[in-house]
Amino acid sequence: MVTALDIDLGEEILELKKRRNAVILAHNYQTADIQEVADYVGDSLGLAYQAKGTDADVIAFCGVHFMAETAKIVNPSKTVVLPDANAGCSLEQSCPAPQLDAFLREHADRNYYVIAYINCSGGVKALSDVICTSGNAVRIVEQAPKDRPILFVPDENLGAWVIEQTGRKMDLWKGNCYVHVEFTRDSIQRIKADHPDALVVAHPECTQAVRLLADEVCSTEKMIGFCRNAPVKDIIVVTESGMLHRLRRECPDKNLIAGPTDHCACADCRYMKMNTLEKLRNCLENLSPEVRMPEDLRVRAEQPLLRMLEQSK
Ligand code: 13P
Ligand code: SF4
Repeated sequence: MVTALDIDLGEEILELKKRRNAVILAHNYQTADIQEVADYVGDSLGLAYQAKGTDADVIAFCGVHFMAETAKIVNPSKTVVLPDANAGCSLEQSCPAPQLDAFLREHADRNYYVIAYINCSGGVKALSDVICTSGNAVRIVEQAPKDRPILFVPDENLGAWVIEQTGRKMDLWKGNCYVHVEFTRDSIQRIKADHPDALVVAHPECTQAVRLLADEVCSTEKMIGFCRNAPVKDIIVVTESGMLHRLRRECPDKNLIAGPTDHCACADCRYMKMNTLEKLRNCLENLSPEVRMPEDLRVRAEQPLLRMLEQSK
């Protein structure tokens, strides 16, 4: 529900945006009120392209920290702010850069080609050969050198799905998204039984048991095309709850049903939901919290990101 306070805040945000010459980029998992004031709403890949291409002075990034950091890496002359600096990601946390560094040193004889899912720190990106998102992971893995073993970090579920799609063998880091592993075979089977004609679309961060129940597995942005073109009205959407707002806007004639977990009717990412309209107003006003990183680290993290942008064209 949009309140009078939201309308006031929304107007303040638009005013500040003009004053700061800022662009507001928001991930598909942001709350409805944030999506409504954003200039662009999309998945990690679309957001990375938008961040690189913008000529605004300030990027207000409504997503989690690694996404805002990616914006800074690819467009360093911009001031990048995010509403809540504590908006992390369980995948990022599952693969600390010093641990990956130690692993690569220990297995130096393997000469790994490291593919990092974008949900990781700048430190991990700097140790990688190329980055991927859920939207281009298959394409990126298909372009990996054939004569080198691949280490895929940090999401074992996305990695396993890419192995299924490409047939390419990869060693997987044991990380996962705490939100997507909450969906279970039972919880999805139950909602399917309630909606026998529904199709199921799931994010590749879900476990294989859940992916096997899906008619389509794809990134959040690709879910829009799938739902729009689906030959049925009912679609069960197995990903974070914010996606439902975006989908209902884009596909108003569909009945979009949130995939449930064993405990809840839908799944929220606590990190994505740390951002609020009020904090967005404050970060535009104060130009803080700001994303900064040492230039040598930024340069090392930029190379694999640019390789990704080039390879996913
Ligand atoms: P997408 O790039 O598919 O939007 O996924 C990002 C993410 O964090 C999923 O949990
Ligand atoms: Fe990270 Fe999962 Fe939240 Fe996406 S939904 S930001 S992968 S914790």
